[in-house]
Amino acid sequence: MFSLELSETHKMIRDMARQFARDEVSPSSIERDIKGEFPTEIVKKMGELGFLGMMVQPEWGGSGMDALSYVLAMEEISAVDASVGVIMSVNNSLVNWGLDTYGTPEQKEKFLKPLATGIVHGAFCLSEPEAGSDATQQHTVAEQTEGGWIINGTKNWITNGTTASTYLVMAQTDRALKHKGITCFIIPRNSPGFEPGLKEDKLGIRSSDTCSIGLTNVFVPDENVLGGVGTGFKIAMESLNGGRIGIAAQALGIAKGAFDAALLYSTQRKAFGKPISELQAIQMKLADMATKIEAARLLVYKAAYLKDQHVSYVKEAAQAKLMASTVSVQVALEAIQIHGGYGYVREYLVERYLRDAKVTEIYEGTSEIQHIVIARSLLKEM
Ligand code: CAA
Repeated sequence: MFSLELSETHKMIRDMARQFARDEVSPSSIERDIKGEFPTEIVKKMGELGFLGMMVQPEWGGSGMDALSYVLAMEEISAVDASVGVIMSVNNSLVNWGLDTYGTPEQKEKFLKPLATGIVHGAFCLSEPEAGSDATQQHTVAEQTEGGWIINGTKNWITNGTTASTYLVMAQTDRALKHKGITCFIIPRNSPGFEPGLKEDKLGIRSSDTCSIGLTNVFVPDENVLGGVGTGFKIAMESLNGGRIGIAAQALGIAKGAFDAALLYSTQRKAFGKPISELQAIQMKLADMATKIEAARLLVYKAAYLKDQHVSYVKEAAQAKLMASTVSVQVALEAIQIHGGYGYVREYLVERYLRDAKVTEIYEGTSEIQHIVIARSLLKEM
């Protein structure tokens, strides 16, 4: 039975993440955003604290926690810096999960362990210049050769793209089979012909790195095929189901950060002879913001709960992401409105929440794609 009651362990993880976010992530977050600087030291510390392999068993270097713990930590860290949140989310949901679920013991030893311990971090390469929402249309091609595969193509919008060490790359191995002819390859960064491009200059989540990747005659040995030839699209979609819970938690964190800032500001800023928190116009906004955040939180925790129960969570993950990302943009906008002119300048942080929130409606499946996933699930359930 789904309950919002957190266990002592869950509370401990949430508090640990909150403290880490406050003490380690917050101090340099404005500077990193302005400079677009990757949080190298913070990512290292996240590894030490177990945040980069949260749901991987200790045998493979992880913390052996559940999805709810992951969501709680993601929410706290993203409330302070969503760039750090997405680095953590991609590593946990899109890279570790696939390796953990479909990897051979040798692949886990070689690739998962360093990723889960946080010695290195990873990236997930599905999107292409002409295959974003329409992800089955992969143009990256893998041709069989002696002992392995030769891969050619281009990947786009790759989070952790310039800094990762291990990449999961989807490529077409048999075009006639359409999405059933897509295979997932594990590619180390130093493979000849594997070339991450320049870091994109983004509106938000500016200190995370996003880039395109060129693959020119990249040789990948057979032992680096993940989960069997032709199973790449399935792995990608299943990874994204969990990824969507992670991004929903990131969006929830952004909303919480923006709301907390607006609530505090409303008690400090005076207008018409009293704190603006006593004005009904502001109270209406605060009440709406808090209610929307709570509704989103329920969906996010429920999706994580279902994942932990090992039952289907496809629809619920999409609902959680749709709701939390929408709420996060709305709440960030209202937080700016409550701050007035001060909300429009960098000094007050809330403008960053809006810039960071927007991407949660785009990556790991746009809001429009989430509608499709939800509707198809509803029809399937009939
Ligand atoms: N979970 C499990 N399987 C799924 C699935 C899901 N959520 N969605 C689709 N599938 C399966 C289907 O069951 C089907 O399998 P079978 O043929 O075996 O039955 C197969 O995938 C193809 O599905 P459809 O026939 O429904 O294909 P479609 O082309 O009509 O729609 C889609 C597919 C749902 C639109 C899918 O392409 C999609 O999710 N697109 C969005 C892609 C996305 O989220 N990209 C983000 C990339 S990662 C990123 O953002 C970068 C980053 O670094 C953070």
